[in-house]
Amino acid sequence: MTAIAVLSVASEIFPLIKTGGLADVVGALPTALAREDVAIRTLLPGYRPVVAKLESAEPARAYANLFGGPARVLAGRAAGLDLFVLDAPHLFDRVGNPYLGPDGRDWGDNAQRFAALARVGADLAKGAVAGYAPDVVHAHDWQAALTPVYLHYDGGPRPKTIVTIHNIAFQGHFPASILSAIGLPASAMSIDGVEYFDGVGYLKGGLQFADRITTVSPTYAREIMTAEFGMALDGLLRARASIVEGIVNGIDDSVWNPATDPELAVNYSALRIDMRVRNKAALQQRLGLAVSAAPPLFGVISRLTLQKGLDLLLAETADIVGRGGQLALLGSGEKGLEAGFHEAARAHPGAVACTFGYDEGLSHLMQAGIDFIVVPSRFEPCGLTQLCGLRYGATPVVARVGGLADTVIDANDAAVSAGVATGLQFEPPTASAVAHALKRAFALYADDAAMRRTRLNGMRADVSWRGPAKRYAALYRALARSER
Ligand code: ADP
Ligand code: GLC
Repeated sequence: MTAIAVLSVASEIFPLIKTGGLADVVGALPTALAREDVAIRTLLPGYRPVVAKLESAEPARAYANLFGGPARVLAGRAAGLDLFVLDAPHLFDRVGNPYLGPDGRDWGDNAQRFAALARVGADLAKGAVAGYAPDVVHAHDWQAALTPVYLHYDGGPRPKTIVTIHNIAFQGHFPASILSAIGLPASAMSIDGVEYFDGVGYLKGGLQFADRITTVSPTYAREIMTAEFGMALDGLLRARASIVEGIVNGIDDSVWNPATDPELAVNYSALRIDMRVRNKAALQQRLGLAVSAAPPLFGVISRLTLQKGLDLLLAETADIVGRGGQLALLGSGEKGLEAGFHEAARAHPGAVACTFGYDEGLSHLMQAGIDFIVVPSRFEPCGLTQLCGLRYGATPVVARVGGLADTVIDANDAAVSAGVATGLQFEPPTASAVAHALKRAFALYADDAAMRRTRLNGMRADVSWRGPAKRYAALYRALARSER
């Protein structure tokens, strides 16, 4: 087999810059696919921290004016990743989040910023850097989705393209007036082009012109073809259903390995699962919870947004405490939710602990110390925290949607008697369904043998990238073989 070269285009990558699971996936794919003889190189924006971390950067291509200022493509490596970095100071050299300014609002020029990323992605696809000719281009989410659009309107030979939807809630929808500023022809403004509700739709355009569309779980692939979950793109996806595929995410099992994880108080494995309780004590101590092995400790590690359904859990915190349980939350996001959880922690000292902010290290200790990881999402393309929970013996309690439905086996009677249950699922996403799931969790926890069995099943489940990497490799190969 000859090696296949894939150009991945994305707006974040772990460990250089991360706001969510997208970064984890984009960062894990290159290593996972290297084992399948696929060489992935990732193009990403030159945000200030990314340029600072770049090792051995070589200018590979210059632009005198890229949507308002000079820019360069730097070829280099960082954290073991092969990268092209779009060094465009007028677009990316700023203090703040990749998408939001210090005031918490979208950067006013996001249309230009992510059009520039895709424009350069299309140029690299067509051989703009001497000696680099990818066989396939893989664009992630709306921020990269114009890549196949530029390739289409440029015309001429081009590699085949994939657009992966990590979250259809974010679509990149801008006023029609930006069209000429981002270098697309007036003819693109049509229903079979980028036109979307009288504006320009970046994800819409990408889905229109991609050779293949993937999303991050089979269930989400089906869901987004329905009006309930498709967020107005369901019709387009149904029309293109034959090229849509769901490939579930994995997690990097060298980063997420309880046997070697440096963030834990005590390392452990499925064979030494009894050691785990020492991480629970360390976590309780660190968070100011009453230190005791007895209460079931529920945990949440999440962005605090409507998607994640944490308002439903918030409504049940008094019940958790009333039944003798504990709750630890690590998250950041909507101020209203933060205030609600802050109040719950104040009302239940020693039983509810909330940490607001982003803390990678604490997220590892939490997975090792909590008994249950709760993910009550209203929709969830894949979800990664339940996968980490499985690997660390934190039993998932999840809504039965998207990737949560695909990665957790509910402890119903049939699954329990077959010895395959790994967690608890509930539906629909309502506070009363959450309450019922929590009740089941308390009952499971009270049954030592069943709890141990469920934990071990989770720890032995394959949540690695090995299986998914084979699916991506097969997809890349099929596209690389097809004609340009
Ligand atoms: P999403 O991408 O929708 O936010 P995922 O479950 O796919 O959800 O990925 C979230 C990723 O971000 C996981 O790796 C999770 O551990 C991490 N994460 C989320 N919130 C925090 C936080 N406050 N601190 C540390 N890690 C977090
Ligand atoms: C998105 C989704 C999440 C998924 C992640 C990585 O952020 O919300 O469910 O796991 O992308 O694909």
